[in-house]
Amino acid sequence: MEKVFGILGHPVGHSMSPIIHNDAFEKIGIEARYHAFDVDPDQVKEAIEGIRALKITGCNVTVPHKIAVMKYLDEIDSEAEQIGAVNTIVNQNGKLVGYNTDGRGYVKSLLDETSIDLANMKVLVIGAGGGARGIITALLRQGIGHLTITNRTISKAELLIDLAATFDTPAEALEKQVVEEKLNEFDVIINTTSVGMSPNVDESPLSLDRLKEETIVSDLIYNPLETKLLKEAKAKGAQTLNGIGMFVNQAALSFEHWTGQKPDEIQMRKIVLQQL
Ligand code: ATR
Repeated sequence: MEKVFGILGHPVGHSMSPIIHNDAFEKIGIEARYHAFDVDPDQVKEAIEGIRALKITGCNVTVPHKIAVMKYLDEIDSEAEQIGAVNTIVNQNGKLVGYNTDGRGYVKSLLDETSIDLANMKVLVIGAGGGARGIITALLRQGIGHLTITNRTISKAELLIDLAATFDTPAEALEKQVVEEKLNEFDVIINTTSVGMSPNVDESPLSLDRLKEETIVSDLIYNPLETKLLKEAKAKGAQTLNGIGMFVNQAALSFEHWTGQKPDEIQMRKIVLQQL
């Protein structure tokens, strides 16, 4: 019987997940169909019960349900627990297990696309929302030298510092002006905010006046493919990384959780680029 997969979100109509997963199922020869399910915020519990009742094999979860789904699942993987959000649900014969592949997807794209050795690197994360939490957790698990977090609301950055303490990684929360003054100290800069995302393409979350050429500057945004932040970084000779790799890798890691098979990531990337 055809297996059913899907993504739970609100809104979810523009999600590219159905098209990349359906293509991967077809290419690998798995009889399955992946759908977009628009779930109202007051119906998350019913949606999870629906996964059980309909024996849906696996789901992705996106904004705004990544936290809300957690209390209805049977088991949460330790990394998802640490992040405090789930983006992947696996139905293991009726037991629903939650994972989070976002942060790991990002770190994989950083390692694959830049060949950086993160172990002693000083990393700056801009933003302190859900996206930042996933990435910071995955970076800390991977192992970095030092973490700095800056955010419009600095108290939210300070809350994330506790996470670093559990990994014995030195970390600090700093105001944007302070970070901009000592920007040449960072090896990797990651924007996790929506500043610069289409249609606000003329905005940048940080001034790069003091950027050093060796720094890798990365943005989780992939629409546009090159944000103002990345354009400015490139103009200064820095290596840049957009959010396409993270999107593709989180999808590929979810696919592996569901099927035990690795999809063709190059093909996934091609489809995403065609859709943009
Ligand atoms: P996500 O889950 O995508 O990270 P989020 O939890 O809403 O989304 O977090 C959005 C992040 O982008 C936050 O760090 C937010 O800053 P605040 O904590 O001060 O709200 C940041 N952000 C969003 N719009 C911003 C803007 N115009 N300028 C600066 N930071 C912004």
